[in-house]
Amino acid sequence: MYPLRRNRRLRTNEAIRSLVRETTITPNDFLVPLFVVEGKGIKDEIASMPNYFRYSLDLLEGEIKELWSLGLKSVLLFVKVPDNLKDNKGTEALNPNGLMQRAIKTIKNVCPDMLVMTDVALDPYSSFGHDGIVQNGMIINDESAAVLSQMALTHAQAGADFVAPSDMNDGRTLQIRQLLENEGFKNTGIMSYSAKYASAFYGPFRDALDSAPVDLVDVPKDKKTYQMDCGNRIEAIRETLMDIDEGADIVMVKPGLSYLDILRDIKNEVDVPIAVYQVSGEYAMIKAAAEKGWLNHDQVMMETTIAFKRAGADIIASYFAKDVVKLIS
Ligand code: PBG
Repeated sequence: MYPLRRNRRLRTNEAIRSLVRETTITPNDFLVPLFVVEGKGIKDEIASMPNYFRYSLDLLEGEIKELWSLGLKSVLLFVKVPDNLKDNKGTEALNPNGLMQRAIKTIKNVCPDMLVMTDVALDPYSSFGHDGIVQNGMIINDESAAVLSQMALTHAQAGADFVAPSDMNDGRTLQIRQLLENEGFKNTGIMSYSAKYASAFYGPFRDALDSAPVDLVDVPKDKKTYQMDCGNRIEAIRETLMDIDEGADIVMVKPGLSYLDILRDIKNEVDVPIAVYQVSGEYAMIKAAAEKGWLNHDQVMMETTIAFKRAGADIIASYFAKDVVKLIS
């Protein structure tokens, strides 16, 4: 008798395929990144991120309500800071009445149960486009981490549920955790970008926030002295274990698709929830190929989303969140 086992029996039709499918996607899987700008009545499409927008606070309200109605219950906030408010130390990041701090309050006001996570990094506030303070051609670690912890505190004070340091300076998770504890914010979570690689896939995001490193003498042209080298695998585990030791509740791998091996390695190593970030360049690639008619947008979107969860992601930060949820509902 040949063959004894026919694996194709389990693929015969959609009913049996869905019955034995190991990985499925629900709205609960997503964290929705949102870009916020100053002004009124602004819903501005990002050139390199088709169908993705920057919102002013008044229009953010409607977007939040729509996300909630789709079952999307967690957002990750980024702000675009006006040039005149940028400096080397990211002073504006600590303004209790700054755009981020007001965005948190706006969201909690229209949708109190929406989980609000905030980006903690200096690049949108930095006149040099770096995630820390620049001195003598270097990003200085400890001083940067100190500012980041102060920044995280202002987010907690404004009502953020989680703060998400995305900078990759050493020790910043511990500094944030200690300051939050000392100031009485014992229930504010930390989602640390723990294995974040120095990646060319962040290009469209830097367009969205106008946050790319500037081209000046004595300013590093890239983020390779703090973000990870793409050739490294073991280091991702070390970084992640350290963030957990320092008090991270959730850890992250970023970018997504090019780092699925890292995601699985970390899943096998740690016992806290793991987020993956399908970053702006990944979104842009799919959009561009689909626009040209070279790829089927929805199918590729679903395939990549499922890949993240299959590889070990508990949380998927994705610009496709709304599209996916509309498609599967
Ligand atoms: C910066 C930050 C970046 C992203 C999130 N936070 C860019 C960078 O590190 O240069 C990228 C997100 C994306 O590309 O979608 N702290």
